[in-house]
Amino acid sequence: MERSVVLTGQHYLAEKRAVVDRLLDEYLPSEKSYPNILHEAIRYSVLAGGKRIRPILALTAYEVFGGENDDIINPAACSLELVHTYSLIHDDLPCMDDDDLRRGIPTLHKKYNEAVAVLAGDALHDLAFELIARSGSAEVVSELAQAIGTFGMLGGQMADIEAEGKENSIEQIEFIHKRKTGALIRACVRIGAILAGADKPTLNSISLYGEKIGLAFQIIDDILDIEGDEKKLGKIVGSDCKNDKATYPGTAGLEQARQVGNQLIDEAIEIAEQFNIKKNHFVDIARFIGQRDS
Ligand code: IPE
Ligand code: IPE
Ligand code: MG
Ligand code: MG
Ligand code: MG
Repeated sequence: MERSVVLTGQHYLAEKRAVVDRLLDEYLPSEKSYPNILHEAIRYSVLAGGKRIRPILALTAYEVFGGENDDIINPAACSLELVHTYSLIHDDLPCMDDDDLRRGIPTLHKKYNEAVAVLAGDALHDLAFELIARSGSAEVVSELAQAIGTFGMLGGQMADIEAEGKENSIEQIEFIHKRKTGALIRACVRIGAILAGADKPTLNSISLYGEKIGLAFQIIDDILDIEGDEKKLGKIVGSDCKNDKATYPGTAGLEQARQVGNQLIDEAIEIAEQFNIKKNHFVDIARFIGQRDS
């Protein structure tokens, strides 16, 4: 029974991933147009793969809450993957986490150089806002800007750097994780729900679901950096230790980190189960995040 639930969820995710991959290819500028090297670099990083969990969350929220217009949700959902990829390119730079492998291939600054990596990240950020603006909703444009700005993802990245090499409390770790990773994941479900016209109570519940899976996502990322399989992860294990990063297992220990991650996933599933909807893919996605090894 449990196994078939997981398989159904995986099938759903694989299907959506294929849709997102096709759309991204369509939205990205051609390598044949100038500046060719930048367009090549952008395509290298975005099309290298990845779980596509952020656009899938937005697509799911939109569909589940009754949205029906692909022209509105498709560019908005893809904008979330572009912003995410920009954050990864910059996160890997020597001045940040200094990592050499991403999505199973050399990081962008290794493949090209740092200037190309900085500019490709900037370009993806800009293209993301062009795409989300196509939805015609100033509300979701603002939602995304806030989620990735200094009170969200960037604030988290700054705190992450400041926390390197220090003793950090669980509260400090959660402060970092909720911002650097949680804020964008929360925004993904909110953006899908807002574009579908979800009401206030629904928006509040889905935001809470997003917060739970968002924090769990980063806790599990920290765990995988210790005990994950490099081949499956597509990144080098032990990067956090190398940089003396503030991580959940680093402060609480692996066992408690696992427990808190599982607890957050259970709470997210409980929230998702309260939605009165036919196919509850939010449950599948939360399970996938809880069990992921890549
Ligand atoms: C990695 O994100 C960075 C974090 C925010 C933890 P993902 O684990 O979603 O990476 P991809 O997109 O699948 O490569
Ligand atoms: C990344 O956190 C968060 C953002 C990119 C905003 P990590 O630094 O832990 O992500 P990985 O492990 O490099 O993917
Ligand atoms: Mg980092
Ligand atoms: Mg990193
Ligand atoms: Mg990490």
